[in-house]
Amino acid sequence: MCGIVGYLGEQNSPREVIINGLKKLEYRGYDSAGIAVIQNSGELKRVRAQGKLTELEKALEYEPIQEGHIGIGHTRWATHGVPSERNAHPHHAGKVSLVHNGIIENYLEIREQLLEAGVKIESDTDSELVAHLISREVEKTKSIFSAVKNVKPQLKGAYSILVLWEESPNELIAFKDGPPLVIGIGEGETYLASDVQALLNYTQKFIYINDQELVHVQFSKVQKQPSTANFTTETSKLSKEEQLYHVSKVTLYNQRFEKIEPKVATINWSADLIEKQGYAHYMLKEIYEQPRAVAQAAAPHIDLEKMEVQLDKVGFDINNLMDLEKLDSKKDFQSTLEVFKNIQKVYIIACGTSYYAGQVAKYFIEKNARINVETDIASEFRYRNPILSANELVVTISQSGETADTLAAIRLAKNLGAKTLSICNVKNSSIDREAHGHLYMNSGPEIGVASTKAFVSSLVILNLLSLALGKAKKVLNHDDEVIFLRAILGLPSQMEGILAYDKYFSEAAQKLKKFKGFLYLGRGVSFPIAMEGALKLKELAYMHAEGYAAGEMKHGPLALIDPQMAIVMLAPQDDVYEKTISNLEEARARGGKIISISTGENTQLQKVSEYYLSLPKAHWSVNPMLAVVPLQLMAYHLASALNHDVDQPRNLAKSVTVE
Ligand code: F6R
Repeated sequence: MCGIVGYLGEQNSPREVIINGLKKLEYRGYDSAGIAVIQNSGELKRVRAQGKLTELEKALEYEPIQEGHIGIGHTRWATHGVPSERNAHPHHAGKVSLVHNGIIENYLEIREQLLEAGVKIESDTDSELVAHLISREVEKTKSIFSAVKNVKPQLKGAYSILVLWEESPNELIAFKDGPPLVIGIGEGETYLASDVQALLNYTQKFIYINDQELVHVQFSKVQKQPSTANFTTETSKLSKEEQLYHVSKVTLYNQRFEKIEPKVATINWSADLIEKQGYAHYMLKEIYEQPRAVAQAAAPHIDLEKMEVQLDKVGFDINNLMDLEKLDSKKDFQSTLEVFKNIQKVYIIACGTSYYAGQVAKYFIEKNARINVETDIASEFRYRNPILSANELVVTISQSGETADTLAAIRLAKNLGAKTLSICNVKNSSIDREAHGHLYMNSGPEIGVASTKAFVSSLVILNLLSLALGKAKKVLNHDDEVIFLRAILGLPSQMEGILAYDKYFSEAAQKLKKFKGFLYLGRGVSFPIAMEGALKLKELAYMHAEGYAAGEMKHGPLALIDPQMAIVMLAPQDDVYEKTISNLEEARARGGKIISISTGENTQLQKVSEYYLSLPKAHWSVNPMLAVVPLQLMAYHLASALNHDVDQPRNLAKSVTVE
């Protein structure tokens, strides 16, 4: 879950590209950082620092790195070895410099082998060992490419690695198996990074590296020729250096080290989408972007004239070709309707917040399509030997599309013969590329570690999915479909109204932070929202919070309640409202302080609550998207009142690419 960046070229400063890139990747890890550049003098220079990237920037003021044209950088989320300068990347061995994201599983074996050979190991990391293996190999082969090629088969685990060699400043090597890695294509220059966001300031053209692939980037300067595009009649007037143009050659190899043709994709995210745009934190910006996010998620799938859900274009690429133009429609492609008609059971698999979205979807799909739904946490699903068949649909939900457990789960589901459908925010991410069918949250980049807008967008997509399944199964009629779609289309303006609670929570935060714990309670679709609210509070405010099914309280958790316990009661006026109120009274009778969230001017609840928040009147199926907004704001303001780093909570990283 670290972030890595590399640069080879002369148009930009490697130091600047790397530091700018790492800033965009800090969400992946932020306990230490480092950079190494082969300076124009030929010397390989490295600077590392414990703590956030600002510490590395301070270190670079004392120990400046001179210009060069090749460099690599890293921001760390510790796995092997405590966060410290000694364990920070890049790791050096001889003249080799390396950054690594992931885990080398056979590191103990490699360590022993190196110690026996008398190698001096400086850090506690698994990554340094790989640098030593490559360094020993390059001594023999005198080629960094051949050295990496020889070492790669010895590594077990998950890794994305960038390597450079002081002796050859015009070559950069990258290889991966697991964590994501992209190549950014510039004009005569090449970038590498853990994700596209790190490079959007420089390019919008990317090659996504697949597992087991090896990348060889070579840089050279070539004399301008009359036939080249860069040639002008003025060329002869230029200095010798100016008469050269830059070439950066990217060669991709597969597992068998055969050359493969790279596919270049253009990303339409612009660099300003990943700025804070005046908000104090990314998380707050992303909370405020939710009305737009839900509209963007729904737009491609609603035919407004017919008022019908449209998932027809999604389809299932049964052989996983991912290139719709090349598909032989009969052999490789099944329409959504064809697949959905035959589905007997749905599994929804995800982690964390995305898993709670899946739990809400269980209610959507079972009600609208009358199909049995099982939800599973990806890390449980992948190890419980699940039983799947061809008429079962496995839906994975992942904002990043890179979560290691969810990725393993979708691979397993495919191997077991099920149809797979991914719901991702990041297009072309590993999970997206693995699935037969693809739906997108379409919420734009989400940078804050705590997921917000991607959650509501995935709920919209799941709601639409339930309608499409219901229609395919002929259990949902058009009148009902119209009611659901109207509710979704009304969401953006209703959400705008709820954002007004921002001020309310920023004022209440000082009082709320005195509670010793929080119980979030709900029934039906509000139960997973209660769990999501509690998760937000835990990860941001570091306060103890539990999400519980309101009806389950009397089976144990009531014992927790006393006047220091705040009860956040989700009680929209739906078909379980009366029962929820009974549960609220049970909690109040035991001294709990009530923060209630219900629909409209609910005087009954206002009387019994310390804090009361009203949601607009809405169809039950969109209540979850509305009710979660005040919970996000509450967690945000409590964390801010406690002076926590909202965008980068302790011990966490946004994209969890390790098990
Ligand atoms: C919590 C949060 C995490 C993620 C989880 C899965 O706010 O963001 O719980 O939801 O790590 O991540 P994705 O959706 O990227 O697979």
